[in-house]
Amino acid sequence: MTERPEVDQHSGTETTGHEWDGIKELNTPLPRWWLIIWAGSIIISIIYMVLMPSWPLPWANTYLKGLRHYSERAHFEQDMAKLAASRGPNEAKLAQTPLDQVEKDPDLLNFAMAAGKSAFGDNCATCHGSGGVGAKGFPALVDDDWLWGGTLEDIKYTITNGIRSTGDNTRFSQMPAFGRDGMLTPQQINDLVEYVVHLSGREADAAAVARAKPLFEDNCAVCHGEDGKGTRALGAPNLTDAIWLYGGDRDTIRETITNARQGVMPTWGGKLPPWQIDALTIYVHSLGGGE
Ligand code: HEC
Ligand code: HEC
Repeated sequence: MTERPEVDQHSGTETTGHEWDGIKELNTPLPRWWLIIWAGSIIISIIYMVLMPSWPLPWANTYLKGLRHYSERAHFEQDMAKLAASRGPNEAKLAQTPLDQVEKDPDLLNFAMAAGKSAFGDNCATCHGSGGVGAKGFPALVDDDWLWGGTLEDIKYTITNGIRSTGDNTRFSQMPAFGRDGMLTPQQINDLVEYVVHLSGREADAAAVARAKPLFEDNCAVCHGEDGKGTRALGAPNLTDAIWLYGGDRDTIRETITNARQGVMPTWGGKLPPWQIDALTIYVHSLGGGE
């Protein structure tokens, strides 16, 4: 005969019979619903372990693969293979077709635009803004104002080789830091600021403009042209329009002339496959300002 466990007077719960210094341990079993869920999850995990990949087996450099042989990676690889197979012919065709012929093939053009748009979002939008709207120091690609040129050939060259970048054939030019390097005095720079303001058709100090004219001819015209309309071969911007790469207010112009800017556009040739550079070229050309 087993002895009936003692019942605690206070709570009406049975005790386990353990006692420390007069304190008795109550026997409070886990609720049944809890035990059922607990046992259930053990059963489910065993079933899962048998069917699905589970334990790593590091000594064999593998893992328990499970009866279903499921693998995320294999799925991913299959998806990528399918994608490559569906795109492959278009990629090859795009790489082989001269850029000016792509627009005559609607299917290829669609492909190039879609691929160009997505590659632009991945690689270019950080600097040029989404959709190529530009930002201070990063030219807008949606307008028809080009630093280096807006034909398909020009755009492709810029993307492939970069600007003031690392490629051997990078586009290059260097506006001197006239103030920092002491080539012009602050007074002369102030005059030139007025001259640039005047060039862009705004009201400027006439005396300063007159003083700056010979300075501009001596120091700036080589790149920006006598008339200030810029030189594409040097990426020197047109100073007579209202489109500014860095800004057209007097302080910003003074800063540009004093310290120069020398914006860098990365070289993409070798980093992106040729078909993707072609797609980007078509996309950028189509943004609104292609020549
Ligand atoms: C790290 C920033 C950066 C990234 C990324 C970048 N660019 Fe540029 N890009 C520039 C800068 C800066 C210039 C202007 C350089 C200068 O002062 O001449 C420029 C100029 C250009 C030009 C010449 C515009 C003109 O008016 O002639 C084109 C075209 C261009 N980028 C396309 C792209 C494309 C396409 C990508 C993506 C593959 C890209 N850029 C990624 C910074 C960037
Ligand atoms: C060696 C060629 C060269 C010379 C000389 C030169 N520039 Fe520039 N300039 C450039 C280039 C290239 C840029 C494009 C900005 C960059 O460097 O990223 C530029 C940009 C500018 C800008 C900014 C335009 C904008 O849209 O924000 C101003 C203003 C300017 N130059 C004024 C001058 C003045 C004034 C002089 C003469 C004191 C001068 N530059 C001499 C090549 C030159």
